[in-house]
Amino acid sequence: MKKVILDCDPGHDDAMALLMAIASEKIDLLAVTTSAGNQKPEKTFANARKLLALAKKEEIPVAMGASKPLRRELIIAEEVHGETGLDGAELPEPSVAARQISANDLIADILRNSEEKVTLIATGPLTNIAIFLLSHPELKEKIEQISFMGGACFGGNYSPHAEFNIYVDPEAADIVVKSGVSVAMFGLDVTLKAQLFERDIQEIREIGNQVAVTMADLLDFFHLTTTVPFWADENHVEGIHMHDPCAVAYVIDPTLFKVYPMNVQVETGENLSLGSTVVDYDNVLGREKNVSVGFEVDLPRFRELVMDTMKYFND
Ligand code: RIB
Ligand code: CA
Repeated sequence: MKKVILDCDPGHDDAMALLMAIASEKIDLLAVTTSAGNQKPEKTFANARKLLALAKKEEIPVAMGASKPLRRELIIAEEVHGETGLDGAELPEPSVAARQISANDLIADILRNSEEKVTLIATGPLTNIAIFLLSHPELKEKIEQISFMGGACFGGNYSPHAEFNIYVDPEAADIVVKSGVSVAMFGLDVTLKAQLFERDIQEIREIGNQVAVTMADLLDFFHLTTTVPFWADENHVEGIHMHDPCAVAYVIDPTLFKVYPMNVQVETGENLSLGSTVVDYDNVLGREKNVSVGFEVDLPRFRELVMDTMKYFND
């Protein structure tokens, strides 16, 4: 069992990632911290607390992270996740008071007191992870690995060459990839392949427990805002991109993915490629291969993990 802290910006795919971490017998979810990205910080914090209430796991501590990127104004994705950040379903109100501790202090407390190393999983902008690395260099040795959803070797979804999580806080991503910690990156190259389809939503809904039915409602909404490639036609139906669950699924079972060590740098300059993760795919620069980059996913087994996650919440 791996000790894990999940830093997320729920967000529909973050919600599936969180539930996957809760349900897995391979993960001991020690805490959840929330980042600003899909929605404003107070909304992603509220959403994480509501999801834990839905999962009946409010004993897991939740802490709000930074209210904005390290150096830039916050950009949110309301057009994708809606005004609440989790549009499409009614979630239960938390039954426990919000903790006043900051994400940075909660991460530090847990790592300082843990006898084992802790895996940090990030499914939003990397602001909180970067702040922790900068403010607690003495605790870097307690990090087993950083597994994050973000970036892309080829392409982008917020600009032609930048994925949203990295574009929101490129300076934070730069700190993470230069940290010297073991880092696994699940960018669009693999997350756009991790798709669920209408039949999967129906299967999830038919599982029938409250978590599954709520998640089916959330996926119905997320499907409405899922980007469809320009070349899609009657022969190609685009599914729902399960970006964030990839970063969790890898920690649960690395054999679900093909990842390759490559040199990754982050563009922080004010130019067309701002926020790009520059992945040296052919190793032309011969630089340190500082990141394990995901490219392939075993989709049938990934979907099986999603279904097992939903069934976990049967009474
Ligand atoms: O680009 C996809 C990422 O942006 C996912 O983490 C999604 O939740 C949004 O935050
Ligand atoms: Ca996210």
